[in-house]
Order: sequence, then structure tokens, then C-alpha cells
Amino acid sequence: MTIKRPIRFPPAIKALLLQLSAFALTLLSLHILVLKPTPTAFAFTCGLIAACLSSIAKQARWWLIIQFLFAPTLVAALAVNLHPKYYLIAFLIFLLVFWNTYRTQVPLYLSSNKIWCALECYLPDAVPGKNFSFIDIGSGLGGVLTHLAIIRPDGSYCGVESAPLPFLWSWLRIRLGGYYQCRVLWGNLWECNLGRYDVVFAYLSPAPMERLWLKAQAEMRPGSVFISSTFCVPGRSPVETVVVDDLHHSTLLVWRL
Ligand SMILES: C[S@@+](CC[C@H](N)C(=O)[O-])C[C@H]1O[C@@H](n2cnc3c(N)ncnc32)[C@H](O)[C@@H]1O
Repeated sequence: MTIKRPIRFPPAIKALLLQLSAFALTLLSLHILVLKPTPTAFAFTCGLIAACLSSIAKQARWWLIIQFLFAPTLVAALAVNLHPKYYLIAFLIFLLVFWNTYRTQVPLYLSSNKIWCALECYLPDAVPGKNFSFIDIGSGLGGVLTHLAIIRPDGSYCGVESAPLPFLWSWLRIRLGGYYQCRVLWGNLWECNLGRYDVVFAYLSPAPMERLWLKAQAEMRPGSVFISSTFCVPGRSPVETVVVDDLHHSTLLVWRL
């Protein structure tokens, strides 16, 4: 007997379906109640219903805000009467920055300068004539790599980034800045072999952490260090936790393999 699993949509697709349902429900309610609201009132009703549906569907809290504001923002944008090319430009920029976020559930946000400084303590001790290796999986704009390369030029720093615009930005930053110990690859972190690195750094989201831990355990060498900024591995306590005095009081979670 085969057990049918429920279909699991990525959160963005789920949000879109709920938004469409909210639109249909709003239209239906207005038809039944014989009401003709202004576009703004219609949009806020639609947003409210979408937020309620998202809450029932147990979407993350920040989705409720997005769902509530989506239709009113559309109405406001239409009222501004901008030339369509600006929407196209904005769409393309978002596409190139957030690329496959709807699938990975890992958007671009940057770690603070204080996190970069805290990471310095977890680099291996300097050994004359020997380089250590560091990777930032999901390297964003390359800030972690270039900062560490200045502080510890005896390291070899690699970044892997899947979104085109952040990749291009970090590639230019490395090239133009003359960071010869750094390189960044346009690719998927799941295809990287973590066994080549002494230190693996990740600042991703809660979504991939369980799978990432399994990958780290399978591939990383004994004695190497796995560091996650902010996001923990379910059921695995880190050996060290460092709270950083930045805007978000970010935490570095450290595991030794
Ligand atoms: C939260 S940002 C962190 C950026 C940088 N590491 C930092 O600390 O400032 C996560 C980055 O991971 C990238 N990313 C998400 N999934 C990825 C994947 N499967 N492979 C490569 N990069 C990925 C995103 O595009 C995003 O730029």
C-alpha cells in the first residue's frame, strides 16, 4: 500500500495561492453584501483576509505582514502612475538578487562587521609556510571573505553564491580590490565538497540547517570547524555560542567536527 504525502508548496507559492483565495473571497463577500468599496478599501479587505488565511495556514509571522500589505501596495503603486519600465527594472533587480529564494528560503541579508570580527577568533592558528582554508556558503556580497583576507592573509578564502547579482558584485569586489587569497564561485552550496575546508561558515535561514548539518557531518574533516550565524541546527547544541553586540544581537554557533 502506498501512503500519499500531502503536497508541500514553497512558502512563496503558498502565499500566492492564499492571496488569490483572499481576492476571490473578497469579491464574493462584496457581491453577496451588494457593496461597492473604493479600490483602497477593497485592497485592505483583501489584505486582511489574506493575512487571516496565512495565519490559519501557519505561515511564518512575517508572511502575515507581507500578505496584509500586498494588495494595498499594488493599489498605491498603480495610483502613482509610474512608467511600466520602472516596474520592469525593479522586477529584474529583485530577480537577480533573490533568484531562487522562493525555493531555497534563504534570501540575501548581510552579516554585520562585528560578526566578521568575531569570526577571526575561529580561524586556525598561523603556521609558517602553511595556509588554512575557509568557505562562506552563500557568500552574498563577499564581505566576510574580504574582511578575513585583510586580517589573516595566510588563509585561502572561498565563497559560493547562487544569486547572479550578489555573485557579480563579490566577484568584482575581489578582482578590483586585489584580494588574491579570495575567490567566489557562482553555484549551489549543496554541490560544494565541505571536506576541503578548515572552517565552514554559513549565514542562511532555519530552512536548510538540518540538511546542512548532515552534509557537514558527512563531508567535513575531523578537527574542522562549522560555524552558523544566528540559525541553530535542530537538536544539536553547539560547543560554543558567541553573542555579538550588533544591531540584532546576532549569535555565532560553533561546532567542532
Ligand atoms: C543571508 S545571506 C548571507 C550573505 C553572507 N554570507 C554574509 O554573511 O553577509 C545568504 C546568501 O546565500 C545565498 N544562497 C542561498 N541558497 C544558496 C545555495 N543553495 N547555494 C549558494 N548560495 C545560496 C543567497 O543568495 C544569499 O546571498
